[in-house]
Amino acid sequence: MAGTIEGLPETGVWIDNASHPAASGETFATLNPATGEVITRVASGDEPDVSRAVDSARAALRNPAWGRIDPHERARLLWRLAELIEENADELARLETADNGKTWFESRKVDLPQVVSTFRYFAGMADKVHGETIPVPGPFMNYTRREPVGVVGCIVPWNFPLSLASWKVAPALACGNTVVLKPAEETPLSALRLGELAAEAGLPPGVLNVVPGFGTKAGAALVQHPDVALISFTGSTETGRLIVREAAGTLKQVSLELGGKSPNVIFADADVGAAIRGAASGIFYGKGEVCAAGSRILVERPVYDEVVDALAERAASLTPGDPMARETRMGAIVSETQLERVLGYIDAGRREGARLVAGGRRHDPGGRGFFVDATVFADVTPEMTIAREEIFGPVAAVLPFDDFEEGIELANRTIYGLAAGVWTRDVAKAHRFAAAVDAGVVWVNTYNRYDPATSFGGFKASGSGRELGMKAALEKYTREKSVWVSLA
Ligand code: NAI
Ligand code: MG
Repeated sequence: MAGTIEGLPETGVWIDNASHPAASGETFATLNPATGEVITRVASGDEPDVSRAVDSARAALRNPAWGRIDPHERARLLWRLAELIEENADELARLETADNGKTWFESRKVDLPQVVSTFRYFAGMADKVHGETIPVPGPFMNYTRREPVGVVGCIVPWNFPLSLASWKVAPALACGNTVVLKPAEETPLSALRLGELAAEAGLPPGVLNVVPGFGTKAGAALVQHPDVALISFTGSTETGRLIVREAAGTLKQVSLELGGKSPNVIFADADVGAAIRGAASGIFYGKGEVCAAGSRILVERPVYDEVVDALAERAASLTPGDPMARETRMGAIVSETQLERVLGYIDAGRREGARLVAGGRRHDPGGRGFFVDATVFADVTPEMTIAREEIFGPVAAVLPFDDFEEGIELANRTIYGLAAGVWTRDVAKAHRFAAAVDAGVVWVNTYNRYDPATSFGGFKASGSGRELGMKAALEKYTREKSVWVSLA
């Protein structure tokens, strides 16, 4: 299998625009999930490394080369970083595919272009961060300043390692902050390369530090550090809860983009062919390791059998294979642990009486690697585990419903509220659905659309705070200061 990257050297923690061994000297292995082989070893960051990175980020805030930089120049640096990412897109996509198991197609054709456009978009924002002048009574002038919050701790998961890092790093830097980025222990390689490229782009030392390591060590140290002003986290709801608790000690701000169990709702009056394609890619894209995956497919009864059959057929045609191969459209599950979790949910679906119509097994092209077949369960009921819990794998739960009210009721019957899809030709119904559904993002006759210009985020147990979009970035990555001036 072509997934292995030959001769990749051991990687350190990235602080002050240089690579260092971890203070403890410890390293951990990062694996290629398509082969189970070690790609390389990476420094295992812990509290001393996080402290050093935060000190470096604090010093960078005071360094005039960043702290008093001309905003146009800050924009130019971010634009330059976007260009370097684009120039190195092949290499970054190879790292991403080797580390995560996602297909080359996803890494190179989807993630990397998104990362580039995210840095470009926020480069454009860098010289448009400003406050307002507010009319106030009396002989006073009042104005607001939009200041950087300070050191931002970004903690990202393994499903979109570089994309999700860019969603945080680009707006944080555009607003003049400095960053300590903690990539997931499963997928640290692309973030470390991003640190190098940021230095090459001319970002001063300490503006972007990258500390790889485990969540309970490097992650927890970052959350607890008193000099980190904001934690911007993407990951599981369970870890999100822990982070809120850990952050309470220093009362830092926390923004959370967490899990989901998003409904993709197909009404009988939809373009059913388009709905089926959208529902299949909504759950199988990225092996289903997507926070907004449309993992509950709700289908109005008159088209239910047609949709179930077609989904089963599409799933059966999606054979997992070598993620590096240009034609592969279904890669490897990120880790053995995650594979076991997914297989555990498939067992639960069987045990609790859902009807398995496609997949349901580990797939083993080479006798190694962590692959699972695209799986579809029909006749799922809302009480079943696979209808309630985030699986984070290519497993669709299909449930029938009888009318609009039941469709909405089922869509909202979840602790989560991240995304929702609706498929109908009735414009009024689409808008009624968009208004009634408890989800931070709604897709009408489409699914999984993202753009740096528009915000993304969840309600309920899917988190708080928004990613992307200029307004959300301004609210999250700047602090507002109100200044009163006597004119008397
Ligand atoms: P996780 O939420 O524990 O990991 C995400 C990031 O948080 C990683 O960088 C990790 O090192 C860090 N982290 C973990 N514990 C921490 C702590 N105490 N303090 C600070 N940082 C910490 O997710 P995990 O364990 O890799 O996956 C478990 C399940 O979570 C998956 O099966 C999936 O269901 C869900 N998940 C959801 C994601 C989403 O975007 N909605 C992303 C990743 C996982
Ligand atoms: Mg890995």
